Amino acid sequence: MPDVTLLTLQAMKQKGEKIAMLTAYDATFARAACQAGVEVLLVGDSLGMVLQGHDSTLPVTAADMAYHTAAVKRGNLGALIVSDLSFMSYATLEQTFATCGMLMQAGAHMVKLEGAGWLAEPIRLLAERGVPVCAHLGLTPQLVNVFGGFRVQGRGEAQARQLRADAMALEQAGAAMLLLECVPSELAAEIAQSVKIPVIGIGAGAATDGQVLVLHDMLGLSLSGRVPKFVRNFMDGQGSIQGALGAFVSAVRDGSFPAAEHGFSA
Ligand code: KIV
Repeated sequence: MPDVTLLTLQAMKQKGEKIAMLTAYDATFARAACQAGVEVLLVGDSLGMVLQGHDSTLPVTAADMAYHTAAVKRGNLGALIVSDLSFMSYATLEQTFATCGMLMQAGAHMVKLEGAGWLAEPIRLLAERGVPVCAHLGLTPQLVNVFGGFRVQGRGEAQARQLRADAMALEQAGAAMLLLECVPSELAAEIAQSVKIPVIGIGAGAATDGQVLVLHDMLGLSLSGRVPKFVRNFMDGQGSIQGALGAFVSAVRDGSFPAAEHGFSA
């Protein structure tokens, strides 16, 4: 049992305390992020891009995710570990159960699924079987080929209405957390207010209940040389990686990250 549980995160939301979450893919960085004070470690399938050098997350396998989850577990010091279900590893219910079994047995405390309203059924069945789910909405990178690129989602009234409805439906189905990626700041604020579960943002403005960044991005490391608008390089002004991780946690807690310039308009 981690020190940080879903109850901890719920209580933080209720008290208006911001949740700090970072990706981690190995034991050493998991330990460093915990020492900096993050509540949640995300074993993200972004590892396909930042560790494996692919141009999307699609080549990542469930076995990759289990391997990195087990490594993160060995470095963890009490954070809640969330692991991504990789592309096509939850296309059917049978696959979903098998993949979640692998990840939870490797050390995850929660899994993250990308999608929209269709996730309601798997989320309900997983929650009943002891697998808490974080639903990832907005720019869901596994749908990059459907979206035609990594593009902001939820712009315009029709898309915004759909996103609000998806968030409500997935909370009702039993999602224990929401992650909103690259959605207009105002819309994210509205969703965070209208659901009871914690909402973590990345490129979703300052009003969500917490923030997540990809570790390599916030350390100023980029294979492609392209830095997303929502990223701040926390190595700036810091003499060490540990200092940068601590600066991220402090900035999330005191609300100075993200600034308005890191968000998107409707
Ligand atoms: O895979 C990942 O690292 C993620 C973050 C972008 C939130 O899902």
